[in-house]
Amino acid sequence: MRVTVFGSANADLVFPVPVLPAPGHTVLGGPWRALPGGKGANQAVAAARDGAVVRFAGAVGRDAMAAIALSALRGAGVDVSAVAWTDSPTGAACICVDAAGRNQIAVSPGANALARADQVPPLAEGEVVLMQMEVPPEENARLIHRARASGALAVLNLAPALPIAPDALRALGLLIANEHEAAWLAAQLGCATSAAALHAALGIPVAVTLGERGAEAAGPEGRWRSPAFVPDRVQDTTGAGDSWCGVLAATLSRGTPLEDAMRRACAAAAIAVSRPGAADAMPLAEETDGLL
Ligand code: RIB
Ligand code: NA
Repeated sequence: MRVTVFGSANADLVFPVPVLPAPGHTVLGGPWRALPGGKGANQAVAAARDGAVVRFAGAVGRDAMAAIALSALRGAGVDVSAVAWTDSPTGAACICVDAAGRNQIAVSPGANALARADQVPPLAEGEVVLMQMEVPPEENARLIHRARASGALAVLNLAPALPIAPDALRALGLLIANEHEAAWLAAQLGCATSAAALHAALGIPVAVTLGERGAEAAGPEGRWRSPAFVPDRVQDTTGAGDSWCGVLAATLSRGTPLEDAMRRACAAAAIAVSRPGAADAMPLAEETDGLL
């Protein structure tokens, strides 16, 4: 079954720095690079490299940055025919990465703010529709309701944590959040910050990624916990969550149960953080197989 990703595509300007700059400070770093990024594009690349048939819908500008933003998608064989070409600048992210692989990211959405759900061609029953929060929330809400009406599995990665209509959240087939996003959502809902509490509050399956502690999920069929895999070394954690979401979606599209899909997603994320860049760091299926 296909994976459709609706979301952002960015050009990431990556600055290697010895330490992340504090407010008012200037830090001299190593050579900067322009790399493909954006949570939507990163997740689409991760799913395609894991073997899924993937199409991507989003928006870019008619500028030089668009080629960078779409390069990894094209290289991974993702169908980009539903991408809108707009008069806004292609989205860009300024990313500082320190010697320990930690990052600091500022995003200028640009054309991503013009992405529309109706760009997405008709959905098939059983396909996975994967979204994040770098495009307008109301467009995600539209696509979630459409996915549900088509019998597709709507999966939302609540990254970054921003408000979205509660009826859209409750129509999801799966919500994915990291610990910070889960804490933000739990505060809105007045519940505890666990997958089980969020599942109880929303009535939908919820997965929470826990970084070096793996991931947990809760749904009507029970609760699951997946340990993290230890990376060879941590070089760049940018897009770690995206590798997790993309590989999870690809694995679910093959009909694999959530528990096994989570384990595979954790393995893929350990490989992604051991390499520089976001989309460029996504592992091939055989690389993830090797770690499992
Ligand atoms: O999740 C990582 C991504 O967030 C980066 O590629 C950057 O473009 C921002 O969107
Ligand atoms: Na990386």
